Amino acid sequence: MSTEIQRAPGQPEAFTLHLNKAAQRALPWTGAQDAILSDAGYAVAKQTISGWPGYARSPLEELPGLAADLGVSSIHFKDEGGRFGLGSFKALGGAYAVARLLQSEMGKSLGRAVGMEEVTGIAHPDLAGKITVCCATDGNHGRSVAWGARTFGCACVIFIHATVSEARKTAIEAYGAEVRRCDGNYDDSVREAQETATAEGWFVVSDTSYEGYMDVPKDVMQGYEIMAGEAFDELETPPTHIFLQTGVGGMAAAVTAQAKRRWGAKRPAIILCDPDQSACYLESFRAGAPAAVHGDLDTLMAGLACGEVSALAWEILRDHADAVVALTDDAAVGAMRRLARPSAGDTPIVAGESAVAGVAVLTLLMADAEARDMLQLDNHARVLFFGTESDTDAELYERLVGMSAAEVRGSTG
Ligand SMILES: Cc1ncc(COP(=O)(O)O)c(C=O)c1O
Repeated sequence: MSTEIQRAPGQPEAFTLHLNKAAQRALPWTGAQDAILSDAGYAVAKQTISGWPGYARSPLEELPGLAADLGVSSIHFKDEGGRFGLGSFKALGGAYAVARLLQSEMGKSLGRAVGMEEVTGIAHPDLAGKITVCCATDGNHGRSVAWGARTFGCACVIFIHATVSEARKTAIEAYGAEVRRCDGNYDDSVREAQETATAEGWFVVSDTSYEGYMDVPKDVMQGYEIMAGEAFDELETPPTHIFLQTGVGGMAAAVTAQAKRRWGAKRPAIILCDPDQSACYLESFRAGAPAAVHGDLDTLMAGLACGEVSALAWEILRDHADAVVALTDDAAVGAMRRLARPSAGDTPIVAGESAVAGVAVLTLLMADAEARDMLQLDNHARVLFFGTESDTDAELYERLVGMSAAEVRGSTG
């Protein structure tokens, strides 16, 4: 069997499906992987995050109408749009990393171990107030870091690049952070955040990892795992296929880690979904090693517009992600509309541009016999999606879908 198929290049329904030959269900969960995401780390994150004010398990919607339309046995959609009122699953990661960083820095100042309850209860406002966290973002991660900083009493500066929308900037400012707009693209804002942090003695809280910068992104990913744990706990029967949209891959690695540690060799098939303009997992699986994508990474799926994989995420996905599919923006917009105006009986769902790649990809694959065969997608498949954001840019959402989020939620489906 071939490892790659390409369909309809240049057309809205174009896709590339690539099997990751390095992945096998029988591969062990290694010590190196466990040093990134572990049961112990998950337990601490779960205890911490579930104690935060406003914590609630996000809804897991069953979509029988969509499953019947596409020809699979069942579809569940974990809707992260309401998470802590921030609009995306990212609320779990950046804010948790801020809390862990404060715990560690306050411990150094006090010369003793500091409990997480001292951080969340703002037991040392003077120490927390002296700390400034910062990051570069195209929206959701910055919102989470700003919210964490405000919740735990430290200062926060967020760097955004030239094309981040005003709506996303305002949403970050609403959490009390100073937002600085930089010239250039996302990578330029990452550089400016790092240089300013070094000059000012601030702490960078990034959601991606690279040589020499691993601790904070590990905490970010450990926070994301809560979302996977909630979904898996709630499902009576484990899914057979999980579709995961990828930016740097932190979210996908966190869900994959939880699946692999829970189910071992019986884990579901893991299928990554990359925008075709920023398909760094497609290129990396083709190369068998992290491979960067260059250019303007111009995709509507703003949260996924990343040209390089996270080193920590790669360590996990290299062994345990079975395939990647690159898709077009048009396919994503089609999926947003389909979720907003669902098949009879399904709940209408507000899912933003970066939340729907899995739904779009399954739609494409189910219409293609060879693709279905390659991934054993048939009427026995139980599919799980993670709807990672709602209308985080409300104006853009309404323009693309033709309805506002309030109209979608108010419709009967
Ligand atoms: C809504 C949404 N979904 C998915 C992702 C992808 O997460 P990661 O970069 O960890 O792959 C992002 C990243 O910003 C996002 O904002």
